[in-house]
Amino acid sequence: MDVSDRLKELQGRPWLDIPYYSLGSARRVPTMLSRHEQLLYYWLGAVWARGVGEFVDVGSYVGGSTACLAEGHITANLPTRIHAFDRFTSSEALKRRMLYAAGIDPFEGEDILPLAKELLKPWAGRVTFHHGEITDQTWDGSPIEVLTLDASKVALKTDAMARMFLPAMVPGQSVLVQQDYLHCSQPWIAAQMELLADHFAPVGHCPDDSMVYLCTRQVDEEALERAEIGLLTDAEIFDLLDAARARHAGRGLDDRFDMMIRALEANPDKRIAWQFTPAPPPAE
Ligand SMILES: C[S@@+](CC[C@H](N)C(=O)[O-])C[C@H]1O[C@@H](n2cnc3c(N)ncnc32)[C@H](O)[C@@H]1O
Repeated sequence: MDVSDRLKELQGRPWLDIPYYSLGSARRVPTMLSRHEQLLYYWLGAVWARGVGEFVDVGSYVGGSTACLAEGHITANLPTRIHAFDRFTSSEALKRRMLYAAGIDPFEGEDILPLAKELLKPWAGRVTFHHGEITDQTWDGSPIEVLTLDASKVALKTDAMARMFLPAMVPGQSVLVQQDYLHCSQPWIAAQMELLADHFAPVGHCPDDSMVYLCTRQVDEEALERAEIGLLTDAEIFDLLDAARARHAGRGLDDRFDMMIRALEANPDKRIAWQFTPAPPPAE
C-alpha cells in the first residue's frame, strides 16, 4: 500500500465507527481527551499500526491517553512498546477537577506517577514511563509509529520535542496527533506544522482541538531547522496561521483560526500557553 492509500484510510475517520465500549478498561482512566480522541487513540493501536515502530504519548497526565493507545495496542497484540512521557505532577486544583471528580480517593502531594502506574496496570507489560521535564529526556532513535503530542505548552520546548521525536517517524506509516493544534493559547503548533507541510499531510480535525497527520517524508536536520518556531515574530506566526487556515479550508475551522489569531493579537510576544489571556470576542 502506498502513502496515498494509507492517507485515504485515515481520511475516512474509521475510528468513529468503533463503539465506545471497545475501549474496555481504558474508559476508567481519567482523561482530558474527548470521546472522539479516545476512539482515535484506540483505533491507532487496534487497527492502524503494523508494529513498525513504538507508540509515544507526550503529556500523559495520569495515563488516560496512554490507556486508550494501550487498549488498542493489546487488541492488535503489537510487538512494540508504548512510552508515556510526563512530569507526572499535578496541582491540587487539577487533582480535584480531574481525579477526585472521577472517583479517585484524595491523596497528599503533587506526585501522580504512582497513581498513573496503578491506573495503567492492565497494560503494565507494554508501557514504559519517562518521568520528568521533557527537555531532560532523550529518545534513542527507535522508529515511532504513533506520536501523540499534548505537552506543547511552551514554544521553545515544542521545538525541542520536534527535534527529539520527528526524525524517528516513518514516511507512509507514522501518524502524528497534535492534540492542541486548535487551542488558541498555542498558535505556534499550527505555525510549526505549516513549516513541516512537505513532511506531514493533514488527515483532518478530531474534536476538540486535535489535528491528525500522516508522515509523508523523512524529517531531516534541514527540515527541523526550517520548522523552528520558538523565535518567530508574531508577524511570522500570523502569516503561517493564514496559510494554515487556507490549507484547512473546507474543514469548517475558519472560526477556530480566527480565534487563534485574536488570541495572539491580545497576547503579543507570548510563547507560554498558561500566560495567555482568553481571545476577545470577534468585533461586531
Ligand atoms: C493536557 S495534559 C495531558 C492530558 C492527557 N493526555 C490525558 O489523556 O488526560 C498535559 C500534560 O503534559 C505535561 N507536560 C506539559 N509540559 C511538559 C513538559 N515540559 N515536560 C513534561 N511534561 C509536560 C503535563 O504535566 C500534563 O500532564
